[in-house]
Amino acid sequence: MRERTVHRCTKCGATHLRWVGRCSQCAAWNALVEEDLPPPARAASARGWSGDDAGAEPIALGDVPLDGGAPRPTGIAELDRSLAGGLVPGSVTLVGGEPGVGKSTLLLQLAGAWAARGGTALLVAAEESAEQVRRRAERLGAAVGGVSILATTSLRAAIDAAGSARPDLLVVDSIHALADPEVGASGGSVSQMRECAAQLVHYAKRSGVATVLVGHVTKDGALAGPKVLEHLVDTVCSFDGERHHALRIFTVTKHRFGPTGELGVFEMTEHGLVGVADPSKLLLGDRRSGVAGSVVVPVLEGRRPILVELQALVARSALATPRRTVQGIPPGRLALAVAVLEQRVGCSLASMDVFASVVGGVKVSEPAVDLALGLALVSAATGVPLGSDLVACGEIGLGGELRQVVHTERRLAEAARLGFARACVPPSAPEPPAGMSVVRVATLAAAVAALGLGRARTRGQTRVRAGDASGVSD
Ligand code: TYD
Ligand code: MG
Repeated sequence: MRERTVHRCTKCGATHLRWVGRCSQCAAWNALVEEDLPPPARAASARGWSGDDAGAEPIALGDVPLDGGAPRPTGIAELDRSLAGGLVPGSVTLVGGEPGVGKSTLLLQLAGAWAARGGTALLVAAEESAEQVRRRAERLGAAVGGVSILATTSLRAAIDAAGSARPDLLVVDSIHALADPEVGASGGSVSQMRECAAQLVHYAKRSGVATVLVGHVTKDGALAGPKVLEHLVDTVCSFDGERHHALRIFTVTKHRFGPTGELGVFEMTEHGLVGVADPSKLLLGDRRSGVAGSVVVPVLEGRRPILVELQALVARSALATPRRTVQGIPPGRLALAVAVLEQRVGCSLASMDVFASVVGGVKVSEPAVDLALGLALVSAATGVPLGSDLVACGEIGLGGELRQVVHTERRLAEAARLGFARACVPPSAPEPPAGMSVVRVATLAAAVAALGLGRARTRGQTRVRAGDASGVSD
């Protein structure tokens, strides 16, 4: 008999009856993978799930007890900051990241730190042998008293071991490598992964064990990404960084117990991951001054302002459709900046390849980068560097006008702390901290003129219309 199968999009999780090249939900190309459906009416009821809550009565929302649910610190400050205090008992946290970025290292350190604070941790190693993990722990010099390990790829064995060891932290590395023979699908398939995750979520809720699952993602999404697990778990985190760079960024993108967006910053050293207390300093460490196309922008990740360097490169294109390449910023922000430059500033990049990136592997999605992006593009196009003592932050509207962004004061204070003397900001921005001067500009065109970019000789086909300095006040 033919197996019943569907095609699932690894980007958005939508299912399709037939394989198609492009997902009709999220428009991703080549993201569909075939997966087997479990036999009908089996999965949940056969395990008695549906019976678990049979007869449960609803209660008034105001009478719901408020015990539990408080996060428990992990002992790793950068993690606790991102997770709004730590791990909540009974919650399930998914940590996604590319292979080799350091997930296993981070979670081994987490287990060690948890145990050092008096907790008990069980590490289910589904990809490495117990000996490999011990060797790594020794290399890291991590405290491992209170950490138990089970090297298995069997979901049953993992849940049974947790049932008898009764840890208060369960780490599964990784969810891709676990399998449950009762699920018909082949090992490593999306349905295996989803079923294993669903059972671990169920176990975590019942037992109150804080559970952390590791999931791999690749840049092109070739592997069935943890995307399909996001709705199952309480917290979704990503651990990013370029493998050839030491910097690693831990971000929480979904959190049922607190705000998201707070960054944890680590540096990969020979003794494992070390928290970085002053990320701005590290991120700007290798910056060269006097380079056209470089602007520093104070971004706000969670409550912490961080200074990042934004770089742009503009070059004549040999292609019919010139390239627009971004790293660390959404493509939409670059498209907006390019369009505003063309229509409101008179700087056309239509026949140019445009590259824009945030240095250090940090991802910035907030509109506060708009002004810096616009200035970096003009600076790159004209070959005129901006002063190395300058930061810029502000949102660009479709009319080319600049708007203030939240917590400008805090952003400028961080810039002043690191020695920046000038800030280019929208007119309504607050007074700068002592020792810093501001260039207040109402439009992107005014900013270009006020910072001396509009008077420069332009290169290639780029033309900057100098002079629209209306709205500049110093
Ligand atoms: P790992 O945690 O195995 O990555 P993942 O689980 O995400 O696949 O770490 C991979 C890299 O980290 C590896 O290439 C070596 C490096 N590393 C260090 O630089 N220092 C260390 O102390 C450790 C343990 C690993
Ligand atoms: Mg690993």
